[in-house]
Amino acid sequence: MMNFKLEQLKKKQSEALLGGGKERIIAQHNKKKLTARERVELFLDKGSFEEIGMLVTHRTSDFGMDKQIYYGDGVVTAYGTVNGRLVYVFAQDFTVFGGSLSETHAEKICKIMDLAVKNGAPIVGLNDSGGARIQEGVRSLGGYADLFYRNVRSSGVIPQISAIMGPCAGGAVYSPAITDFIIMVEKSSYMFVTGPNVVKTVTNEEVSSEDLGGAHTHSSKSGVTHFTASNEVDCILQLRKLLSYIPQNCNEKTPVLDYRLQEELRPKLETIIPDNPQQPYDIKEVIAELLDEESFYEVQSEFAQNIVIGFGRLAGRSIGIVANQPMVLAGCLDVNASKKAGRFVRFCDCFNIPLLVLEDVPGFLPGTDQEWNGIISNGAKLLYAFSEATVPRVTVITRKAYGGAYDVMNSKHIGADLNFAWPSAEIAVMGAKGASEIIFKKEIDASADPAQKLMEKEQEYAEKFANPYHAAARGFVDEVIFPEQTRRKLIKAFASLESKSESLPKRKHGNIPL
Ligand code: HXC
Repeated sequence: MMNFKLEQLKKKQSEALLGGGKERIIAQHNKKKLTARERVELFLDKGSFEEIGMLVTHRTSDFGMDKQIYYGDGVVTAYGTVNGRLVYVFAQDFTVFGGSLSETHAEKICKIMDLAVKNGAPIVGLNDSGGARIQEGVRSLGGYADLFYRNVRSSGVIPQISAIMGPCAGGAVYSPAITDFIIMVEKSSYMFVTGPNVVKTVTNEEVSSEDLGGAHTHSSKSGVTHFTASNEVDCILQLRKLLSYIPQNCNEKTPVLDYRLQEELRPKLETIIPDNPQQPYDIKEVIAELLDEESFYEVQSEFAQNIVIGFGRLAGRSIGIVANQPMVLAGCLDVNASKKAGRFVRFCDCFNIPLLVLEDVPGFLPGTDQEWNGIISNGAKLLYAFSEATVPRVTVITRKAYGGAYDVMNSKHIGADLNFAWPSAEIAVMGAKGASEIIFKKEIDASADPAQKLMEKEQEYAEKFANPYHAAARGFVDEVIFPEQTRRKLIKAFASLESKSESLPKRKHGNIPL
């Protein structure tokens, strides 16, 4: 009896591995795309793939569905390991009803989401779906809501990551949107709430799926996706890389790689800041020098490029980096930069990832466009995110730290632990020219040579305030350091903050200006 059951199980399992109707799958399989199981196999460590729920079938009989039963019901759910650490994964199978989400398909995903939370491990979704299973009506919509609810309830508890490897349309987009990170495969994936046909009907705009919601659009225009991948294999390798920086859950510390401390001086840092304070430089050169070799993994690299965010390693330990980019909009904070960095700061804070801030910011970007698009409430998001973060926080002011942006960019006043400044730092209410034009206006106007007078006053103001020493004298900067020492200082600073423990006042939750 025992053997018979085993044989029956083996038969069912092998049928399931073929995804049910073999001919149908082969006929519909797009040769350019990996199958759902191939994707999971590639994603998980070799030999660790354990599928669960492969014998699940849908329960619908309408529209002849009782004659179309496929094991697994269009989604592969599994657990396994990535870099030796437990992870839960689901992969939608486009070859079964276009990967559409039925009631049972949703139940399978919910089951592994629940397991992921109970076991404190990340959940990764490989999305490739035509959306709600049309034949099931509201049962499918309910299934989506069950997913959304879990996405929200587990937000900040375990990392949630979504890869978009095919269509993701309609309300289906909201599950990935709630997860922490999205990665899209170029040319073969798209995300939109309403597709090109509806857009044409409602607004009369003609737009392709790719332009409306392809990887490039969402990485550069909307900022919806955090990463793009050139193909499916690249996508899966990036998922594995991303996980390597992140703790398993909100109670764990960041993963550490072996690292042997050396002298840690970086002389190249002495040469990066130009003599002329108006001249831009690439903050990514500074980041590359400060972090362990080739460890920087940039997030949202094509969106709001005036701020750079990403993960990196410092003496083997993962940290999050937020840095103004003087090469774009002179590093000013604007609506998109504030939203981008604010969400990243909150992610790092959820998962105990220490934050390094590199500051060179002339202020908030002026203009009607910014004001009308809510720079007030959006800028406040970044201020809020830093102020509530309890992870170790260290700032290095490389050059400008002006106005409100000085406060926002992880100043001591909003809870940063250690703040350093390079000798090139200028910490003031505004630049010397603008400041002189205002406070010395009468003197300049009365002068025989106003232009000459303005230059003199500008110089006087710069000598007094365009330096880090006033801030250091007040303790707003802890130490003025030479650029070449910065990596060594940071390694020591973060090591000293490793057992930092800080909690927020008891409350239900704060009210970030969303
Ligand atoms: C059931 C579906 C399906 C769906 C596709 N299929 N989408 N079956 N429910 N939602 C089936 C097709 O009937 C077809 O089956 C097979 O999957 C492959 O689909 P094709 O259309 O042949 O593939 P392709 O040409 O690549 O087009 C892919 C597609 C298109 C663009 C995704 O299938 C499509 O537009 N599907 C409907 C998308 C949609 O409107 N979904 C509902 C969105 S609203 P056969 O048997 O012919 O091979 C939504 C609400 C969620 O999702 C709300 C949450 C709150």
